[in-house]
Amino acid sequence: MSLERVVEVIERSGELPTIGGVATEVVRLAGDPSADFGKVAAAVENDPSLAAKVLRLANSPFYGLRGEVSSVERAVALLGMAQVRNIALSLSVIRDFSGSYGGETFRWDRFWEHSAGVAVIAETMIRLLKLPMSGTEYAAGLLHDVGKILLGHHFPQEFARCLDLAARRQASLREVEPEVFGTHHAELGGWIAERWGFPTPLREAIRYHHEPTDAGQQWVAAVVHLADLFAKVKQIGFGGDRVAVCFTDDPAWALLEGRRSHLGNLDLARFTLQLDQEVEMARALAKLGREP
Ligand SMILES: [Fe+2]
Ligand SMILES: [Fe+2]
Repeated sequence: MSLERVVEVIERSGELPTIGGVATEVVRLAGDPSADFGKVAAAVENDPSLAAKVLRLANSPFYGLRGEVSSVERAVALLGMAQVRNIALSLSVIRDFSGSYGGETFRWDRFWEHSAGVAVIAETMIRLLKLPMSGTEYAAGLLHDVGKILLGHHFPQEFARCLDLAARRQASLREVEPEVFGTHHAELGGWIAERWGFPTPLREAIRYHHEPTDAGQQWVAAVVHLADLFAKVKQIGFGGDRVAVCFTDDPAWALLEGRRSHLGNLDLARFTLQLDQEVEMARALAKLGREP
């Protein structure tokens, strides 16, 4: 097989996955400094089941606002637009993919725990390291492995073989997929990101999350790459990889060092402790997103 053949099968199936109005709006506004985030809130309110979930989460003990959040507008006022935007994006994307799409080949609940985990870790890393926000890092974290869902849905037997090969060889899916598909989930993810009209930094981060040095917009890919490693080290959810990783010695740190020279002095123990606190949030998002 090859990327072209995989894409042909997906396109012929007539089941090309779509992402909902809220997710599209969030992605479109990401990285636009003059964006009107009121539009995101309005899009959430137009989607009653999504609005109900956002309010449930906003009123959960995570935010210490139990019972105080009665509308999306109020949630924005109390939590801030960025927080509400991330919650809405996660819940909407996870819901869109959690129906019949995806199939039974994989533990998708753990997959979403991993993806939501990478999203919150990527954003927290940028905040703690005082790197410039691109606006796309959360979405990039959430969708970095979207190619796996496509492979799992359209090629259940072949994808199951990849999972098996990865388990037997103690390897990552990225390493074994080319043997079976002639391509891998990151390349396929880059293709769907283009089909969805995602902005370049987001597309590049999805395409190059395993090889951040090859990305044009290197540093979002580097952050997602490191967040992915951190999620694996901490066993946040499960994305199908069985490989041992080292978070602190990864070459992607060098890409960030070009942007922040003080990274060499970073207290990694403290840093990872702070990231740990975000992980529970990711678990709650993944669980709520999959509920009908
Ligand atoms: Fe991946
Ligand atoms: Fe991943």
